[in-house]
Amino acid sequence: MTIVSVAQVAYLAAAVLFVLSLAGLSKQATARRGNLLGMVGMVVAIGATIALALERSERNAGVTLALIVGVLLIGAVVGTHRARSVEMTQMPELIAVLHSFVGAAAVLIGFNSFLTEGRDAMHLTEVFLGVFIGAITLTGSIVAYLKLSARVKSSPLMLPGRHALNLGALAASAGMLVWFLSTASIVPLLIMTVIALAVGVHLVAAIGGGDMPVVISMLNSYSGWAAAAAGFMLGNNLLIVVGALVGSSGAFLSYVMCKAMNRKFLSVILGGFGGGGDAPAADAVEGEHTETSVSDTVEMLMGARSVVIAPGYGMAVAKAQYPVAELVERLRANGVVVRFAVHPVAGRLPGHMNVLLAEAKVPYDLVLELDEVNPDFKDTDVVLVIGANDTVNPAALDDPNSPIAGMPVLEVWKASQVVVFKRSMATGYAGVQNPLFFKDNTSMLFGDAKTQVEAILGAMPAKTGDKLAARA
Ligand code: TAP
Repeated sequence: MTIVSVAQVAYLAAAVLFVLSLAGLSKQATARRGNLLGMVGMVVAIGATIALALERSERNAGVTLALIVGVLLIGAVVGTHRARSVEMTQMPELIAVLHSFVGAAAVLIGFNSFLTEGRDAMHLTEVFLGVFIGAITLTGSIVAYLKLSARVKSSPLMLPGRHALNLGALAASAGMLVWFLSTASIVPLLIMTVIALAVGVHLVAAIGGGDMPVVISMLNSYSGWAAAAAGFMLGNNLLIVVGALVGSSGAFLSYVMCKAMNRKFLSVILGGFGGGGDAPAADAVEGEHTETSVSDTVEMLMGARSVVIAPGYGMAVAKAQYPVAELVERLRANGVVVRFAVHPVAGRLPGHMNVLLAEAKVPYDLVLELDEVNPDFKDTDVVLVIGANDTVNPAALDDPNSPIAGMPVLEVWKASQVVVFKRSMATGYAGVQNPLFFKDNTSMLFGDAKTQVEAILGAMPAKTGDKLAARA
């Protein structure tokens, strides 16, 4: 058996491991195994790629190996440092940057492949498409990074005739493809690259802050297709398979996110949504809110039979998941039925709350999704909203002019009592005021979520049975 055929078998094994990894990642209980399978697959893939590179190396194999090991080491050091230092709340920004690398790689591979390899129509088309998708992914991801890290405004850029601009850019790129195929000149390739870079900026700049979750998964999908295109150019089957897996799973995730936010995929991609609207100004006061204290909240909890906790981005910022998990244990030990209500876009990345709760070892069966939990709120005594805002905003259902109109939300106000943990009356990510805060059955517990939950734990009787005694 030659090295090439061994490498192809290894590629096949890696592809199977990646598919199994994705299957594992689809459930919390199997996610760890899924991650492990993905890591093993990647080690197999890198090993096979190095073996192939050495086999095909035209220059001294030692130099090739030194180059590969050198870049691997640099990448591993930078990657390990970033992975260890990044805050969970900065993950979306990090992911956007990583997507831009895939886009940049596809553009560079495209130009390299054009300059060094054959000029048949098939290859030229692969190069053209790879550079096109790569360039859009590159600049689109950079703009997404700038918006997510609040370096530029998250409101949508509404250029006049923006749909005509996009269509014009698409038509011009098609024209460049015809020119490119008939002359094999680098000029149309360069012109198209500039157009695609501008389209990437425009597409993402036109999307409002509220729709950014879909943009992240959409760019994830684009980066997959860019990688697949690079696979075609390099004749690398594994890259084609992995690119297609990432591309299609990203597209499916975009669909799920659109459903969770009641958006049409095409409207999100074409931009203009998720922005200002006729919403009340960020700090507009809509009425009187009621403030509560730690001791009143403890009393409320001690009298409850069922409690639902709706966590959001603020729980992540405060790192409150650990005391929250302890509170749940305490309440359950005292016979209270406690569950979590997780909105699909709570936090700043898909699955954000699930990851935090898993980290704090909250049992999976206590974590309910929006559809499962919404019918239960009317029978719930107390809801604790911990650092969530947009995802519990009734304006999404009641106000057709709200930027989040139509987005399904956790209908927490249907419970008997709601306590909102946050530091101020400030708005959430979408910048809209929340009428929940002014409802009669809602009270605000101001302060850092972690500090306040710890204070509740401190003021609560610890032993099982205390509550029953208190009730009697
Ligand atoms: P948000 O609506 O962003 O609200 C979070 C709340 O947490 C804020 O109102 C803030 O109020 C509070 N908070 C911040 N730090 C806190 C702390 N240390 N202690 C206590 N409270 C704190 O969060 P959400 O309900 O999770 O909704 C998510 C939003 O992000 C949605 O609009 C969604 O579309 C968007 N988004 C989601 C994603 C994904 S994929 N999940 C990606 C990008 C954007 P104070 O400042 O008053 O404390």
